[in-house]
Amino acid sequence: MSELDPFSSACREDPYPVYRALRNDAPVHYAASMDTWCVSRYDDVQHVLKNPDVFSSRAMYTLLMNNGSNGIDLSWAGIRMAMRLLFKLRTSPLKFVRSRILIASDGKRHDSMRGILNRGFTPRQINAWESRIRTVVEDRLEPLRGGDPFDVVADLAVPLPVTIIAELLGIERERHADFKRWSDAVIYNATGPGRAEPFNDSFLNIMEELFGYFEELIEQRRTSPSDDLISQIVASQSSDPDPLTPIEIIQFVVLLLVAGNETTTNLIGNGTNALLRHPDELGRVLADPALVPSFIEETLRFDAPVQTVFRNTVEATEINGVKLPKGAYVAALLGSANRDERQFENPDRFDITRRSSGHLGFGFGKHFCMGASLARLQARAAFEALIPELAQISQPEAKIRHIDSFLVRGIESLPIRQLA
Ligand code: HEM
Repeated sequence: MSELDPFSSACREDPYPVYRALRNDAPVHYAASMDTWCVSRYDDVQHVLKNPDVFSSRAMYTLLMNNGSNGIDLSWAGIRMAMRLLFKLRTSPLKFVRSRILIASDGKRHDSMRGILNRGFTPRQINAWESRIRTVVEDRLEPLRGGDPFDVVADLAVPLPVTIIAELLGIERERHADFKRWSDAVIYNATGPGRAEPFNDSFLNIMEELFGYFEELIEQRRTSPSDDLISQIVASQSSDPDPLTPIEIIQFVVLLLVAGNETTTNLIGNGTNALLRHPDELGRVLADPALVPSFIEETLRFDAPVQTVFRNTVEATEINGVKLPKGAYVAALLGSANRDERQFENPDRFDITRRSSGHLGFGFGKHFCMGASLARLQARAAFEALIPELAQISQPEAKIRHIDSFLVRGIESLPIRQLA
């Protein structure tokens, strides 16, 4: 079964046949390319995510951002990266590696970090963004409505979440393009071809730029707060007995930048792509726009924007009869669990009226996505405005290309044009 490697670039365009083979023949399978155990069935994925005491989220940092190393990466590249970043940030390597990161924390530490964000992310606060989101969508759709060539990804799916997360954080408009560039670089280097040359110069330059920018911004919000999310995070720390360090606040903000951006882009891109390739489903939602929310949930199930999350075992354990040692990396394959025939009937069928509740597109358990309602709101606004335009468009190119990443799944571009 060693050829079954969901992380290989051969899987980028279509990982689903490999997932099916894994579920059927090797539901808990060791992939040497990432030194990781792949868990592919719905129940087993849920088991991993339901038991954070056994399956630690530390792997979300060590495997993705620290080259699989649990401490300081002692490769030459790792040391060079540490020296450059740490010089810039005036901190010690140990402090950097040990810093608290929401998505990579466990237990009480994790609860308290979620608490910080919960205060700025209540449903009421998110809903207050609805009219701004709809305005951005309307502005972005103007060229399509005017008959100009239009790329659903570049002209709508990318700028919408970038604008919204940047405005939420209080970033000035001139930096929005940098924002996208920084978050693309993190995805490319942590989960794509950039892993072949970890901590390469161009990545280090970007990290310096990004950390430098946020360091200044956070300091500025400390001295003159505004009503944005960064100011709230900074202010919440003044009364905290164990406040986040400046580096930890920067990493918090970088997580929001990447998590809030790339994923929503891919939900809008994957959903549009699925509709255009399933004309019957497009017809149904055109006839009944009330189906938009269930179409969004079906997209999250059918073609999940985040395909996998990682954990590592804090003790020796067993999944579905397979023994795993302490310290093993585990990939909970969300994209596969969502296509598990044991959980969803006819799972490879894209059906916008199916009851796809229970899909794992936003994860499950303690680390369930904190931006789910914001992502759903943006997707609903985008699709409610875009779908009526899809009734009369030229057919998109037959071949589309997917982003080269084993973690996020999305298309690179989707050009369409109104028929005259
Ligand atoms: C379609 C869009 C999105 C998808 C598919 C998605 C998916 C996910 C998934 C699968 C996780 C679980 C990670 C784990 O278990 O290790 C997660 C966590 C998280 N997401 Fe999202 N996300 C989306 C949008 C957003 C947005 C818009 C934000 C914020 C602006 C956001 C912020 C977060 C945060 C902060 C966490 C960490 C929660 C924790 O560790 O407790 N996400 N997301």
